[in-house]
Amino acid sequence: MKHFVDISRLSKQGLTALLAVAEEMVPLARGGTDLAAGKILATLFYEPSTRTRLSFESAMQRLGGRALGFADAAASSVAKGESLADTIRTVDKYADVIAVRHPAEGAALACSFYAEVPIINAGDGGHLHPTQTLLDLLTIKREFGRLENLSVVLTGDLRYGRTASSLALALAPFKPRLVCVAPEGLEFPPHVVRRLRAELGTPVEETDDLAAAARGADVLYVTRIQQERFFSTDDYLKVKGSYVVDKRIVELMPEGSLVLHPLPRVDEIPPAVDDDARARYFEQMRYGVPARMALIAALLGLTPKKIPYKEIRGEELELPCPNPRCVTASEKYLKKLYTPILDKTASLFGELGEGKRYRCLYCDYEVVV
Ligand code: NCD
Repeated sequence: MKHFVDISRLSKQGLTALLAVAEEMVPLARGGTDLAAGKILATLFYEPSTRTRLSFESAMQRLGGRALGFADAAASSVAKGESLADTIRTVDKYADVIAVRHPAEGAALACSFYAEVPIINAGDGGHLHPTQTLLDLLTIKREFGRLENLSVVLTGDLRYGRTASSLALALAPFKPRLVCVAPEGLEFPPHVVRRLRAELGTPVEETDDLAAAARGADVLYVTRIQQERFFSTDDYLKVKGSYVVDKRIVELMPEGSLVLHPLPRVDEIPPAVDDDARARYFEQMRYGVPARMALIAALLGLTPKKIPYKEIRGEELELPCPNPRCVTASEKYLKKLYTPILDKTASLFGELGEGKRYRCLYCDYEVVV
């Protein structure tokens, strides 16, 4: 594994091996180690963050290394108009591994093309958040006891909630039953549903009956409405407060099941739920440090086993990605790269129309040529 951009590029065995390292890191996340002594992590955060950035910095320091970076791009040369590529070429000379959070979808993949050192995707717009998924899986494994054959209910903003897309795709090899409860317009993006159903063979059910879904859940994964991703305030106000996981819902869930949330929460889980034994979102936060320690150690080659990561090279097309949130829309110098969607799966979905179907390598947006 050279970079860590999309967790679904790890095989089931690779992911299991990385989680095993994360479990070994759990005691070290308190006690510390000198495994990464002399190494430097850079955290480049072009978007707000509390947990992700601080737990990355904590993880690197617990490994015996050091962390530097910026939490506000306005205070960096970005404010002078520097491109993402040039910023990465710069930081690459000062650090051994770089964690980037950026509002554009596909930004971390773009960074990986300009870095000699490993790039970690710490969130790329509404697209993916693979390190959150790593800690979500570690939480489920430790707090529920297994990853296989889970019944997982995903609720909230599945359209722009990058943690939900990443989690659903990463769980696929573990044969889950996925039940989605999303307000209208905030369902999973088409590429996520297509990959799950047609390419990964994962059943995805959709319902608006949260109570019924909660009754059968091993894990109820709740997300915040991602207000910052909406182009209009009116669209946000239409869905604001449209779902709440309150005590009444949580009490329907089986004993021993888990309510998880990547946090921050706004109004989707009232504080009255916090005392329920099923509410585990605060424990979940704790796993952020060992999960990120394991990832940094693996990327720096400090773990005994190599973790294979499937690189996908795109095909260059003279076709601008139609997704306005794609990194190629803001960083114009990037090559327009696509992967073909297999005919066998494309034919299961009529909505793209006739022609050769491609997926943008950066943001996964699907187009017909
Ligand atoms: C999430 C994110 O940034 O996507 N937070 C996190 O990393 N823990 C979820 C969110 O912001 O709603």
